[in-house]
Amino acid sequence: MSKSYKLAANDVNAWYGDFHAIKGINIALEEKAVTAFIGPSGCGKSTFLRLFNRMNDYIDGFRLEGEILLDQKNIYKKDVRVDELRKEVGMVFQKPNPFPKTIFENVVYGLRIQGVSKKKVLEETVERSLKQAALWEEVKDKLHKSALALSGGQQQRLCIARALAIEPTVLLMDEPASALDPISTTKIEDLIYELKNQYTIVIVTHNMQQAGRVSDHTAFFLSGELVEHSKTKTLFTSPKDKRTQNYITGRFG
Ligand SMILES: Nc1ncnc2c1ncn2[C@@H]1O[C@H](COP(=O)(O)OP(=O)(O)O)[C@@H](O)[C@H]1O
Ligand SMILES: [Mg+2]
Repeated sequence: MSKSYKLAANDVNAWYGDFHAIKGINIALEEKAVTAFIGPSGCGKSTFLRLFNRMNDYIDGFRLEGEILLDQKNIYKKDVRVDELRKEVGMVFQKPNPFPKTIFENVVYGLRIQGVSKKKVLEETVERSLKQAALWEEVKDKLHKSALALSGGQQQRLCIARALAIEPTVLLMDEPASALDPISTTKIEDLIYELKNQYTIVIVTHNMQQAGRVSDHTAFFLSGELVEHSKTKTLFTSPKDKRTQNYITGRFG
């Protein structure tokens, strides 16, 4: 059986000015699976993740070589519209960043930008997205209250709902639980496990236990290089590279 790859990087190098942050990376990420990016702080996980929805485009002095493919198409080609790309590739950040608006308006934010105003469509989207983000039961009676009144963990699930509302096929998550308490973290991890039936998920985490719990595949980065990319179980039980071995046994990082 041939696997289908949703995302790929071909000979990717990236620089911040003179600093070579991403070094010759080749990788292909399986569709409807969770891939974890792990590695010590500063190894390039976030930089590499952000390439998949062109979030580095605005950084002064940032330069990219090589190809980043979504469904076999290079997303850095001239004819690619970044707003269209971002509909396909949603993103959730480390710190929950809800807008100072109601819960309802946070979820439908992307639809409003697209010009959707039909009440029924908006209401259906809110219910579907909040259910998918495992937040509906907690907020269904206060949809028109401020999102800022929610707890940190609820805010992060709201941000996930906001990302899902525009029906992406890929979800990029950069340390989505690192600012949360253990119970909220478990909720986010359970959610990721559910969502992979429908979405291709890439999660950056500095927490190896978390990578072990939520991901199907793990990629280990070091100093801007991809050291090893395998099934999560394999990477944590019989890594091929000595550097991976050292990292997972806690010898550095
Ligand atoms: N906007 C930026 N300008 C210059 N250097 C940056 C910028 N963002 C990240 N870097 C550098 O690139 C390297 C990789 O950073 P990052 O991708 O954030 O690593 P990680 O997410 O693995 O901690 C680090 O050395 C970091 O200092
Ligand atoms: Mg990072």
